[in-house]
Amino acid sequence: MTVAALGELIAASSKIVAFTGAGISTESGIPDFRSPGGLWTRYDPREFTFQRYVDSAEVRARSWAMRREFVAHHAAPNPAHTALAQLQRRGKLIGIVTQNIDGLHQQAGNTHVIEIHGTARRVVCIGKAPEHGIPNGCGFTVSTEWAFEQLDAGADEPTCPRCGGLIKSATISFGQQMPTDAVDRAIEMVRNSDLVLTIGSSLQVFPAADIPVEGLRAGAMLAIINDEPTPLDEFANVIARGRAGEVLPAVVA
Ligand code: APR
Repeated sequence: MTVAALGELIAASSKIVAFTGAGISTESGIPDFRSPGGLWTRYDPREFTFQRYVDSAEVRARSWAMRREFVAHHAAPNPAHTALAQLQRRGKLIGIVTQNIDGLHQQAGNTHVIEIHGTARRVVCIGKAPEHGIPNGCGFTVSTEWAFEQLDAGADEPTCPRCGGLIKSATISFGQQMPTDAVDRAIEMVRNSDLVLTIGSSLQVFPAADIPVEGLRAGAMLAIINDEPTPLDEFANVIARGRAGEVLPAVVA
């Protein structure tokens, strides 16, 4: 029974890194990307590249509308997030590397959370005409609520009050340079782990999906909790096919 096997693996580990994807937040009401009904089954990801955002006011308007739908869930952590906070309190978790932008791990009480795709909780100035996927903003950053307030006050789009530059969610879009420091810290973290526990990720997006592999290369064990098969299943010591909000609390209990 995989829950028992997963429990033994976690009991035997003391330096666990959780690597999470959108699937850990679906039970909080936030859609994932590639499951039926997921975001990329309703919006075309190719439309939301960094350069198209910079080049087109219309794409920016649609992006703000999608962002509002996403944030509108006012989602709360679910039992899977809470179980990871418990693992940290028991001193078994050295940290979380998340692809998610919803901030729910921090809300559940976890610290040492590395957000390799940024966060939807804040917006940043990316400058007037950034090129090659590299933001060149003035440094202005504020909560996303501020951007919604600008839109509610009738602005066509939020613009930087300091330099007039474009304002974008502090997430990493397709075609945007990944935050190298976050990725480096994530790789460092998994290299120091004895177990990488991937939860709710299809493990299809790179370089993010390379991070669990770096842990394996450094000798860590691998456990996968996911509703569907993933490309790393063949390397996993344990695979728990099921809902994260049920499997993880059962195992941590
Ligand atoms: N419990 C377990 N697994 C789940 C649950 C759940 N409650 N809900 C969904 N899943 C699984 C799905 O079966 C799917 O395999 O989680 C996985 C989610 O995969 P994706 O939708 O591809 O999300 P993710 O892996 O986080 O995507 C990575 O792609 O578009 C980019 O930046 C975006 O961070 C995202 C990245």
